Amino acid sequence: MNERAMSSKILILNGPNLNMLGTREVEIYGKDTLAEIEAKVRVRADEYVMEIDFRQSNSEAELVEWIQQSRDVFGGIIVNAGAYTHTSIAILDALKMVDMPIIEVHLSNIFGRETFRKVSYISCAATGLIAGFGSTGYLLALEAINDLTEAEN
Ligand code: DQA
Repeated sequence: MNERAMSSKILILNGPNLNMLGTREVEIYGKDTLAEIEAKVRVRADEYVMEIDFRQSNSEAELVEWIQQSRDVFGGIIVNAGAYTHTSIAILDALKMVDMPIIEVHLSNIFGRETFRKVSYISCAATGLIAGFGSTGYLLALEAINDLTEAEN
């Protein structure tokens, strides 16, 4: 078993403007703040006996660096790259370098919105995608990653 297969640490990455959840376009993104989402995810992670590292950055460079550093440390990544989803080949390339399950999450249904949101670079590297379920999407992603890592170990 390699290092990765043994790791039950999950990196949860949130991209630009997600620090504004709770006040940002609540009719689209819901009322939960990012801190409230993190708290919900922590409760669920405890049930799965998983350790999570929940982060947010408005900086594409920082997100790329965190993904690069995740190799051999984490067993999976859950990523909501915000608007970088639709623009960032740099984040895609970083994700392509990691060998672990990657679940892409969006609070809103990006396929039911503006045309430019229907393209996701992140999806090219993602194991799967969850969109449109609000903050519940993070919990669904955790369940998915738990199943995937259990199946591997
Ligand atoms: C988002 C969807 C993106 O299009 C948008 O730029 C975001 C949030 C979502 O979670 O629904 O910032 O990723």
